Amino acid sequence: MNIQNFLLKKIHQALLIITNESVSNLIQVQQSTKKIFGNYQINGLITISKKLNLPVEELAKKIIKFINLNNIAQTIKIEKPGFINIFLDPQWISHQINNIFFMSNLGFTPIIPKTVVIDYSSPNLAKEMHVGHLRSTVIGDSIARILSFLGHNVIRANHIGDWGTQFGMLIAYIEKNKQPELLLHKTIQLSTLEHFYQEAKKIYDIDPTFAELSRSYVLKLQKGEKYYRQIWQRLVDISILNNQKIYTRLNITLKKSDTIGESFYNDMLPGIISDLKNKGLTTTSNGATIVPIENYHNKQGDPFGVIIQKKDGAYLYSTTDIACIKYRCKILHADRIIYYIDSRQKQHLTQAWEIANKAGYIGQSVLLEHHICGMMLGTDGKPFKTRSGNALKLKTLLDEALERARCLILNKNPNLKLAKVNKLAHIISIGAVKYSELSKNRITDYIFNWNSMLNFEGNTAPYIQYACTRIFSIFKRFKQLDSQFERNTIQLETTEEILLAICLLQFEEIIITVANQGTPHILCSYLYKLSVLFSSFYENCPIVKVNNTHIKYSRLKLALITARILKKGLNLLGIKTVRYM
Ligand code: ARG
Repeated sequence: MNIQNFLLKKIHQALLIITNESVSNLIQVQQSTKKIFGNYQINGLITISKKLNLPVEELAKKIIKFINLNNIAQTIKIEKPGFINIFLDPQWISHQINNIFFMSNLGFTPIIPKTVVIDYSSPNLAKEMHVGHLRSTVIGDSIARILSFLGHNVIRANHIGDWGTQFGMLIAYIEKNKQPELLLHKTIQLSTLEHFYQEAKKIYDIDPTFAELSRSYVLKLQKGEKYYRQIWQRLVDISILNNQKIYTRLNITLKKSDTIGESFYNDMLPGIISDLKNKGLTTTSNGATIVPIENYHNKQGDPFGVIIQKKDGAYLYSTTDIACIKYRCKILHADRIIYYIDSRQKQHLTQAWEIANKAGYIGQSVLLEHHICGMMLGTDGKPFKTRSGNALKLKTLLDEALERARCLILNKNPNLKLAKVNKLAHIISIGAVKYSELSKNRITDYIFNWNSMLNFEGNTAPYIQYACTRIFSIFKRFKQLDSQFERNTIQLETTEEILLAICLLQFEEIIITVANQGTPHILCSYLYKLSVLFSSFYENCPIVKVNNTHIKYSRLKLALITARILKKGLNLLGIKTVRYM
């Protein structure tokens, strides 16, 4: 049940009666922000009234006259300066909530499935994943789960940085230190590789011969020379294995087979260059191939282009992204491509899209969306680093979270068996860390803070997980629920019951909004609100102690739907529930 959509359609029908002009796209239905404004608010009347040259009150009155919400709304009110507030009828809400109880998939309206490519996580290899990767990884994964749940064909694309200068440098460094043998035949930790890389970078920055050598290795790799490819493959394998461990620990659905990194597009690149040349889209400057872009100018105000091939023949990050768009559109037949990448790459992406578009790689109906991720900053306002000046490793963060969760659990429950403590601490700590990212608006930068990252109170995952365990424990008291329970309808009597039921019915519209905008923080706020509403329902509407079986079963059913939605909601965020806490 999507109430928002349902009301919107009703208003569209009313508008069709009122006017011949197409104004329905100007109307919006939103959940009301305050109780006095009812449950839903219709916005956009002022704009429409101007367009129709009709006083806004008159328009509102006409809409109310034709909207036909008999038995659906209890009251419809006009609010100044030009809103209509809808107060839903508790009878109608009861009816809807009873329907949902029996529906599979929580009564979601079927959708037209689309092929959606989601580009997320995408770390650069030869380095351990750090906290900066958390946002794209957990938010992208939640959206992948949500779109799959809705029935879309989701293609997860982990566009890892497994190509380019850093590999040239690394190979040059490994050669210089006579270690290729070690690399090919022994197990090497990713942390060692990362150390190699840091050392290599130092030399690269001061030693032109080393830099030249590194670049020549990049070329050899791009040309596919076997020996270099072999070393490179080892470096990639070690990194991927390590990242995969982090994904499993974080309950991220990315599999090894979802890795479609930069190297994957290497073979397409010569074809892309010649195609762009043939289409007359390129120029050359100092031997480099460039695609000029009209809308961009450099500091001097001169038109500016994107280099797609360097003088020495090497390709660039942009070239790969152009090929990648072509692949996603032409081979994967994507209807929608969503990128979870940080804000600093906005220009890079827009340019790659523009070039791909000029080349005719993007079908007209394909939606391209950069779902910008803001940055995690330090107190100095720069990208967050630890005191030693390095990025904080994800593993370090997760270890610390685990330890804090263990202490908290042991404090509350000193007699719990160690194995249980560990399992619980794992689930709770991962939930807390993920939720702290998921619950923030992804666009805004924020300052890293250990306490808020590992918070267990207020609008946090543990709070919602706890609400779930409370409901599970109510059900433990009812070992066997008879068929009378099934047949017993939900009767909404108290304010708490009505508020809870409305919130339950709003799950679908929340999910649809999140799926459209890629904003899981809206789902977080919803689940938190639902937990709070459940809590006040449970305090004011006794279930176990009430004698009347009809009321008991009605409330039990509400509790059951709440548990289903909380569990599903957390699952869509990639957060597990627990039986006890
Ligand atoms: N590896 C890149 C980085 O760490 C992110 C890749 C994002 N995806 C893309 N198609 N460019 O900055």
